[in-house]
Amino acid sequence: MSGYEGPMRVLSGIQPSGGMHLGNYLGAIRKFVELQHEYDCFYCVVDMHAITVWQDPAKLREQTFHIAASYLAAGVDPKIAAIFHQSAVRAHAELAWIFNCVARLGWLDRMTQFKDKAGKDKERASVGLYTYPVLQAADILVYKATHVPVGEDQKQHLELSRDIAGKFNHDFKADDFFPLPEPLIKGPKGQGGARIMSLRDGTAKMSKSDVSENACIFLKDDADAIARKIKKAKTDPEPLPSEPKGLEGRPEAANLVGIYAALAGKSDADVLAEFGGQGFGVFKPALAELVVEKIAPIGAELNRLEADPAYLKSVLDAGAERASTVADKVVREVKEIVGFVV
Ligand code: TYM
Repeated sequence: MSGYEGPMRVLSGIQPSGGMHLGNYLGAIRKFVELQHEYDCFYCVVDMHAITVWQDPAKLREQTFHIAASYLAAGVDPKIAAIFHQSAVRAHAELAWIFNCVARLGWLDRMTQFKDKAGKDKERASVGLYTYPVLQAADILVYKATHVPVGEDQKQHLELSRDIAGKFNHDFKADDFFPLPEPLIKGPKGQGGARIMSLRDGTAKMSKSDVSENACIFLKDDADAIARKIKKAKTDPEPLPSEPKGLEGRPEAANLVGIYAALAGKSDADVLAEFGGQGFGVFKPALAELVVEKIAPIGAELNRLEADPAYLKSVLDAGAERASTVADKVVREVKEIVGFVV
């Protein structure tokens, strides 16, 4: 982190663009819970990112509460970490504009998530979708966050955040004003789960927008739905190998073993030492039991919290106030550095 000497801070965010799933939980939220005791943490519901593609307004509000409730249900404590929605802290948008003038077109042209999301017809994509990673850099750096817990798919966006921070520091001769934020891809205890794949296709990321509803386990799925989806999960006819090397070329098997390992807090090798030589007829019910044990209580708490939107709004408002105190100060400093009259 070069010579940055400010406090260690964590920021991360999730888009309110669909139901929270096992990938979001293992890649992000579970780490949020663990990190809150070690760092000053800011957990955002990134509604401004969500509207880079069309969102039905009523659903967007509902999903914003859903993400906030998911943070709480998984164990983020609003008395310790700030939980808030991005649009309520205007400093994000202010810094994003300044960063739009720091980031280079060539950098954004390389972003694979834009290419994936825009598809073939990129002329019709929103300008916001193109500058999405610049807003993400602002989310992080407006708190001078030093650490960012995310799944593996966010690695490239994090590199861009570091490039923007470095160029800002360099161009304005503001040595170490911004830290170069570090992605936390593995969990604090070295756990996996940073890349959970679809249950229908082991080469595609588990995603809330998957067309097959059996591809994705949602935090709100009940025990029956979880068991059904795991039973239907695509596999191959071979028994499980006894060592991780034997998972090569078997993406679906590797994914199911990875999910088991991440939830059990074990390595793939440990899981295979236990299940190696067994078929999926034995492994799938064991996996279903473990997923139900870990996820169903979160889903139940999520349902309980969602029934109380007034409480969720109060958490978001208090979080936004706390976040604004930190972010407004950073934006004021940035404005001075850039030469705006403040
Ligand atoms: P989003 O909403 O697409 O994803 C939220 C988080 O979930 C992780 N994730 C996964 N992890 C493992 N396996 C999967 N299949 C999987 N799918 C999603 C993502 O890596 C992410 O950590 N661009 C961010 C949102 C964002 C953000 C930020 C993140 C906006 N500003 C600032 C960190 C810091 C995103 O992809 O959201």
